[in-house]
Amino acid sequence: MKILLSENPGGPERLTLATRPQPEPGPGEIRISVRCVGINYPDTLIIEDRYQFRPERPFAPGAELCGVVETLGDGVTGFAPGDRVMALTVWGALAEKVCVPAAQCHPVPDAVSDADAASLQMTYGTALHALEERGGLRPGETVVVLGAAGGVGMATVELAKLLGARVVAAASSAEKCAAARACGSDATVIYPRGPLDRTAQKAFAGALREAIGPEGADIVVDIVGGDYSEPALRCMGFGGRFLIVGFPAGIARIPANLPLLKSCDIRGVFWGAAVERAPEANRRAMARLLELCAEGKIRPRIHATYPLTEGARAIAALNERTVMGKVLVTV
Ligand SMILES: NC(=O)c1ccc[n+]([C@@H]2O[C@H](COP(=O)([O-])OP(=O)(O)OC[C@H]3O[C@@H](n4cnc5c(N)ncnc54)[C@H](OP(=O)(O)O)[C@@H]3O)[C@@H](O)[C@H]2O)c1
Repeated sequence: MKILLSENPGGPERLTLATRPQPEPGPGEIRISVRCVGINYPDTLIIEDRYQFRPERPFAPGAELCGVVETLGDGVTGFAPGDRVMALTVWGALAEKVCVPAAQCHPVPDAVSDADAASLQMTYGTALHALEERGGLRPGETVVVLGAAGGVGMATVELAKLLGARVVAAASSAEKCAAARACGSDATVIYPRGPLDRTAQKAFAGALREAIGPEGADIVVDIVGGDYSEPALRCMGFGGRFLIVGFPAGIARIPANLPLLKSCDIRGVFWGAAVERAPEANRRAMARLLELCAEGKIRPRIHATYPLTEGARAIAALNERTVMGKVLVTV
């Protein structure tokens, strides 16, 4: 079978397409014939050894997939060969075949396409966990989303609207803001591509304040980090929740007086750890997302699709900061 391997740490250009024997499922595992893989920012980090997890090399990147069940390992019940499933692999999905613990597989209803199923887990899973469990979002609250046109960003805009929030979307271009508006955001703010000096940070905070209104933000979902975090923190409302989701623009240093002045919380969001610690809750969340998708209430926006032979280009696209929505690889 074909597999896209990381044999040495480095950027996507260092990945190699190799041929390897197909894997055999161990006890409790399912071998899946992969159809579609969702690419996520963590794929750019894991191949450079900059992610929370450092798999032993060689390994294939690719955290989530949709495919068809081929073979069941000992003890697997509830699935049959031919079933369409989506699965969370964290790494390993960019291959023709993968073996995944059955506990990490979810049956996909007919109404959900392969592309949608491959797009749902990491972005919408993170967004739902951030907004509901970490953010405690209540209908009518104002949610600010930084990096609103990325994969997690668009999912957050869509879900926040669905949960009854007023959404202010911020992104680095007019085109990206238009994409966030198409996902339902009520207001948008364009920020410069950075780095931001003090004047640019003040201007960004001012534009955000204007879009948010006098009460300040109830929730900020910070998917960008770097110089963008502090201006957003300065726009919090009393009792607000500032959610740290990711930092493609760098890890922000936050002045400790700000949460005091705003009487707000800064909360970390680590969806992968939540999945591991509360697998049943994640199973319910995935079933809910599949149902919302089948009903047409959420709709992953696909920015581009590449074949497995060009999987490295799919990962490189996220580094270029031009993607709006989701990048996929078809196998
Ligand atoms: N905490 C968790 O549990 C969790 C789970 C999944 C993902 N994440 C993290 O969430 C973030 C977003 O992931 P994603 O898959 O949605 O990625 P994505 O689609 O590439 O979105 C990232 C966004 O970050 C912004 N950005 C700012 N500086 C950037 C830079 N130097 N390079 C690339 N993008 C930059 C871009 O928006 P603008 O150009 O508009 O600024 C881009 O849309 C990542 O940091 C990822 O590691 C966290």
